[in-house]
Amino acid sequence: MTRTIALLVAALTAGALMTYMLLSIGSKKQEAVLLKAAPVIKAEGVEARSDVWGEHYPRQRDSWEKTKESGEIEDLVAKYPQLAILWAGYGFSKDYNAPRGHAYALTSNRNTLRTGAPTDGETGPMPMACWTCKSSDVARLLVEEGENEYFTGKWARAGADIVNPIGCADCHDSQTSQLAISRPYLLRAWEASGRSVDEITHQDMRSLACAQCHSEYYFKKTKYTDKQGQEQTAAVVTFPWANGLSAEAMEEYYDERKFVDWTNKLSRAPMLKAQHPGYEIFTTGVHAKRGLACADCHMPYVQEGGVKYTSHHIQSPLNNIDNSCLTCHRQSEDEFRSIVAEKLARKNQLNVMAMNSLAIAHLTAQKAWEVGATEAEMDPILAKIRSSQWTWDYSIASHGSFFHAPEETLRLLSVANDKAMDARLDLTNLLSKYGVTNYQAPDFSTKEKAQKLAGLDMPKLIADKQNFRNTLMADWLKQAAAQDRLTDEFVTSVPERAAYLSHE
Ligand code: HEC
Ligand code: HEC
Ligand code: HEC
Ligand code: HEC
Repeated sequence: MTRTIALLVAALTAGALMTYMLLSIGSKKQEAVLLKAAPVIKAEGVEARSDVWGEHYPRQRDSWEKTKESGEIEDLVAKYPQLAILWAGYGFSKDYNAPRGHAYALTSNRNTLRTGAPTDGETGPMPMACWTCKSSDVARLLVEEGENEYFTGKWARAGADIVNPIGCADCHDSQTSQLAISRPYLLRAWEASGRSVDEITHQDMRSLACAQCHSEYYFKKTKYTDKQGQEQTAAVVTFPWANGLSAEAMEEYYDERKFVDWTNKLSRAPMLKAQHPGYEIFTTGVHAKRGLACADCHMPYVQEGGVKYTSHHIQSPLNNIDNSCLTCHRQSEDEFRSIVAEKLARKNQLNVMAMNSLAIAHLTAQKAWEVGATEAEMDPILAKIRSSQWTWDYSIASHGSFFHAPEETLRLLSVANDKAMDARLDLTNLLSKYGVTNYQAPDFSTKEKAQKLAGLDMPKLIADKQNFRNTLMADWLKQAAAQDRLTDEFVTSVPERAAYLSHE
């Protein structure tokens, strides 16, 4: 009897706590931190230099600088060599690391082997669009040049212009200081998905500020006439949201347009690369369904003396469980750490299975071509590989998905595994038709072995990159400093690291 009452009391208390939590989320929605008499940072246009903003907002600026603390490079191709096979023929097979703090965004982009080794403004493998999520100078250029003009030309065109990492102007308006969307393609995608921009609430903005970059995108070829009357083609960042935000809806969007990011060099499958659909997959999880925004966990309020402000030290919330989780949950830090660790371990097990299966599928398809399989035989199998790899990539590419939306992540990894196994069964049957009955995929268990199978000449890629870093890249930074675009000593103190430098 006492036991029943105790249980009842416990249940009622838990219910009350949850109601309190939800109410406190509700009141946060209204809690637009009012910027009374906000200073005008710049009378017209966009102020990309966060040091100029910092003169007015020292607390936000100081906490923003702390993103530099997360600077370790975790080489994911070394950790999971399968990736070099999955992405054979595509830049990611050369170099791919786990995300670091926002302070590093530009140095990561300049130094990765993926952006290649241009020798002037017209060379190199990448378009302008590759800067889009890395710098507050992008917010400035989108206004100064116009959107289509910004998205025209090679990546190297604007190396001397884009020099400040993600900063105040990415998320705030230079005239009013209010939260603002600096990337117009996000608002277009929002409308394409059937919602009106007039419906955007303050709480939505606390996620949409992040969704400008932590979202899935592709480069849409767009023709326009420039100011000189010339026909031009821009490669405009576009979110595939018109059919919905789920993995299946976006896959359908790409399939309808017969869109292909690249052809896998080994299997010749027409592939899609999921970028980082972090916002999209977050919206399927319980925290989003209860009305939380990214900033609730990644940018908690902090109290300093009598002043309450938003921490701009965007990082893993696990470094700050007290402010990030325990404001709503009444459990211990240890309990939280172990819950999150368990979610990660569950995801990792299915993730490794899917990557292994996909790598073997690509290599087996390569073998099938070698022994004479026809396009008619291969096409349906390659379509299964494409679909499997898209589903796998969507589920894990945003890194935080194992926590943001654990059930959806595990569901998608299971679907990806099923499709990859299906493709492998078809390939086994096809090989036996051509007399091959005991095919064993070659060893791809180290980064070196897998990159060799993918046909990469790593010493040459690294030597060319070093040359670029010592010449063109050094010139960009000198020019930007001479022209007062790069005035921030904090920014110039961020080290230009890369995974391949440890091989020097
Ligand atoms: C990635 C997006 C992002 C960046 C970059 C960013 N902010 Fe914020 N900022 C936010 C969000 C989200 C809030 C919370 C707004 C709210 O809920 O009203 C905020 C709030 C603020 C506020 C209101 C007061 C407070 O502390 O809540 C000020 C002032 C501010 N930021 C200044 C800056 C400055 C200065 C920089 C650059 C050093 C900067 N922000 C960079 C997203 C950003
Ligand atoms: C202008 C683009 C942009 C915006 C806006 C942006 N991010 Fe990021 N974010 C990035 C990039 C790029 C990286 C990876 C940087 C690197 O590895 O060099 C990153 C990294 C991160 C990381 C990893 C940090 C670490 O220490 O490992 C977190 C967490 C994160 N972002 C959360 C957010 C949240 C939350 C918001 C909104 C409040 C946001 N981001 C807004 C582009 C952006
Ligand atoms: C309920 C709290 C919560 C909310 C809300 C939330 N996150 Fe996270 N986020 C986490 C946790 C916990 C992790 C896992 C951190 C870890 O593994 O160290 C994480 C991880 C991440 C990472 C990966 C960091 C890394 O270095 O691997 C990124 C990026 C990120 N979140 C962005 C976002 C964005 C963008 C949103 C909104 C669309 C968002 N988060 C909403 C709690 C949250
Ligand atoms: C603003 C309030 C709020 C914050 C901050 C918050 N949560 Fe939650 N959390 C909730 C609510 C509401 C639910 C849903 C409870 C329900 O409906 O069952 C929830 C559910 C959960 C669950 C169970 C559901 C699942 O996805 O497994 C876990 C675990 C969890 N939160 C962990 C965390 C962690 C870790 C953090 C910090 C990084 C955090 N939460 C931050 C409000 C919050």
